[in-house]
Amino acid sequence: MESAIAEHLRCPRTRQRRVEDDYAPPYPAWAAHAPAAVTRVVIGLFGVQSRGAGRLGQACAALRGIAAGFAAPDGPLHHDLTHGVDADGFDNMVAIGYWTDAQAFARWRDAPAVRGWWQSEERLHEGIGYFREIATPHVARFETLFSTPDALEGAGVAMGRLSGEIQEHGYWGSMRDRLPLSQTDAMRPSGARAVAADVPEPGRRVRIAGHDHLALIRSGQDWSGTQGRERMLYLEQIEPVLRAGMDFLERQGLQVGCYSNRYMRHLDAAGQPQEKSFGLSFWRALADMERWSESHPTHVEIFGAFMRYVQALNLDLKLRLYHEVAVLGPDEQFYEYVNCHPRTGLMNGLGA
Ligand code: HEM
Repeated sequence: MESAIAEHLRCPRTRQRRVEDDYAPPYPAWAAHAPAAVTRVVIGLFGVQSRGAGRLGQACAALRGIAAGFAAPDGPLHHDLTHGVDADGFDNMVAIGYWTDAQAFARWRDAPAVRGWWQSEERLHEGIGYFREIATPHVARFETLFSTPDALEGAGVAMGRLSGEIQEHGYWGSMRDRLPLSQTDAMRPSGARAVAADVPEPGRRVRIAGHDHLALIRSGQDWSGTQGRERMLYLEQIEPVLRAGMDFLERQGLQVGCYSNRYMRHLDAAGQPQEKSFGLSFWRALADMERWSESHPTHVEIFGAFMRYVQALNLDLKLRLYHEVAVLGPDEQFYEYVNCHPRTGLMNGLGA
């Protein structure tokens, strides 16, 4: 058993973990670790927003164009193509790219083909919307968790290495304990989101400034390997509750500190949904995320169902769960919405 915090990121603590040194988790879990030379992870969400079946072909072509751009020099080490319908009935197709070199990312972003495409006035007049949500956390502000050791997802694929079984999981507060920065910092936000440019309205290009310690989570589920009883338990007992929790965060999340939530499915290369989903949300504070996961009936029920599931299946799970969490500094985030509806992403609650 090892600490979720990679050895080179450990430091003398001024803040204590929630558990004693001899704590033993009730089931195993793993974390992704990057080589010591990696100082930042880049998570880039590149979204296309459309409404109605008649626009889906155009939106899908735009998504494929963005993904084709990933093949340019300095493109992401890994990417996912994803889709979800939001509470306003818009389709959101998002290409999520991961880098472990912020300079390579900046070169890719600033290459004329990429920069020119995003900055072009044409993007405002195509009948669909676009957005970029980019997080560049220092590795001390980033943690991951995997329920099985056989497949990495998301940032883990780019980071490349899985830890041994980790100690800090299986109790409320373990997410915080896995974040290297929590050794010395309470990670409390002091500011608030602000509209940095233009008014959140369709037809506009809107930039939002994030604040210190704004938190991001991608929490994923892969049920493609499940069969028989396990599959039935997942689809009948866990997924409906997960959906209710995601729906709550999307529609009423602002009251619990969640600025934005999307419940998304992975798409394969032909644009077909895969048996893989995830929630992706932005929060005012890590503490708000902790409070929701620990106390909201939907996540408490998901957590309880998962515990029963693990026991019923004698720890032999084919369901794969993972998450990645970042607590961002003010300079580690960039949000731009081009012709999107005013409840999109970080604009939610700020617009007219
Ligand atoms: C099928 C879906 C899900 C299941 C089965 C599930 C189950 C769990 C379990 C078992 C843990 C404890 C992990 C550990 O430390 O070993 C956990 C933690 C957590 N989950 Fe979920 N979860 C699901 C989806 C989500 C989603 C979509 C979100 C957020 C958008 C979320 C937010 C959290 C957070 C923030 C924690 C960390 C709590 C803490 O350590 O203080 N979960 N979840």
